[in-house]
Amino acid sequence: MNARIVPVVLALALLAGCGKGAGGSAANGLQGNPERGRAALAQHACRACHMIPGVSGPETYVGRPLADLAERRFIAGGLPNNQANLVRWIRDPQSIDPNTAMPAMGVSERDALDMSAWLLRPEK
Ligand code: HEC
Repeated sequence: MNARIVPVVLALALLAGCGKGAGGSAANGLQGNPERGRAALAQHACRACHMIPGVSGPETYVGRPLADLAERRFIAGGLPNNQANLVRWIRDPQSIDPNTAMPAMGVSERDALDMSAWLLRPEK
């Protein structure tokens, strides 16, 4: 399963290298644009199932609240919590857990990266 992540990580590393300082948050080691990610989380209606800090919506507990993700060792049961795995989960949860109730929602690579930057940002 890691073989599928490697090209993505390399591509992201290249993108980040070119755009350093241009909307990324290199200071905390995260790639992507957290504010853009916050908007993408709202646009993709993740809030229908998850409560998310900074994204308004109804009280819901279909999936867990996506708070304090930066503090978690694992996500979705047993997936080591890092940015690449979070991006992969957001884009294609069934590739990690075929039985998960979370649907693949057609999130682009860039949107998923930006979402992960928002969810993993340390300052809350
Ligand atoms: C139809 C409901 C539904 C929608 C919509 C949904 N999710 Fe989920 N999500 C779930 C469920 C259920 C789980 C728990 C899955 C598991 O642990 O196997 C989950 C798990 C997660 C996790 C792991 C959470 C943890 O505490 O380990 C993340 C991160 C996540 N979802 C992000 C998103 C994002 C980002 C979106 C929008 C693109 C989204 N979800 C849309 C239902 C949903």
